[in-house]
Amino acid sequence: MLPIELKDKVAVVTGATRGIGFCVASSLSKAGAKVACIGTNAERLAQSVEKINSEGGVAQSFICNVADADQVEAMSKAVLETFGSVDILVNNAGITRDMLMRRMTNAEWDDVIGVNLRGPFLVTRAFVESMRKKKSGRIINIASISGLIGNAGQANYSASKAGLIGFTRTISKELGNRNITVNAIAPGFIETDMTAVLRDVMIQGVKDRTPLGRLGQPEDIANAVLFFASDQASFITGQILAVDGGLIN
Ligand code: NAI
Repeated sequence: MLPIELKDKVAVVTGATRGIGFCVASSLSKAGAKVACIGTNAERLAQSVEKINSEGGVAQSFICNVADADQVEAMSKAVLETFGSVDILVNNAGITRDMLMRRMTNAEWDDVIGVNLRGPFLVTRAFVESMRKKKSGRIINIASISGLIGNAGQANYSASKAGLIGFTRTISKELGNRNITVNAIAPGFIETDMTAVLRDVMIQGVKDRTPLGRLGQPEDIANAVLFFASDQASFITGQILAVDGGLIN
């Protein structure tokens, strides 16, 4: 882990129950930040928070579907009442509903756009006033290489992540004058529950096409998040960093 100091900072991480989101929340905590863990599954969220706190962290769970405007409003109020303000927001929650476009249902399209694109908009809007008041903040969006180069079977997902990239670039321009940086990370294939459903032959194909010859680990993404969250990254905004072992080079 990079020697990054986030003492006295408050971080919000969406989709913190497992995979990349849990690893990000745990890493931010180990760097000293207090962490608001957001998710939909109360039981898994409680386990994540318990694990972080048992390792000396200060984390609290907030149940919220990021695609639901009322739930996001209630969650952001509760987070701000608990922690006072927010310094770091990681929009990580995301889903896939893969299907060839010609067979894709309206629900498959709407669900993915709802969680992956409407979600970051709602959550960011809910916390941005807190950052504007402090004249400082870090917003880090977890996009995907699928949003940069496309991927057959993922028209909904690619569109959501490409939209998130456009959102990142635009709000970096809107918020820069308040010293708020906004960056995105575009992971390649990372070993989590999301990719566990992929067929072995596909995973092998990805490894073969990846210069570094392996899938990524959640820590590979968490380290990039820590960097964007740190003081060391204070002059970097509007950037999209592919963390993919060189796959899309
Ligand atoms: P995951 O499926 O293991 O975890 C997703 C998390 O988001 C879970 O905690 C889940 O409960 C939460 N979540 C889902 N819908 C939600 C909602 N409506 N409201 C609040 N929370 C919700 O996925 P993984 O692999 O950890 O992915 C995390 C992020 O990284 C996602 O945005 C994903 O699109 C992105 N990503 C992952 C890649 C991979 O290879 N695993 C590659 C590229 C991007």
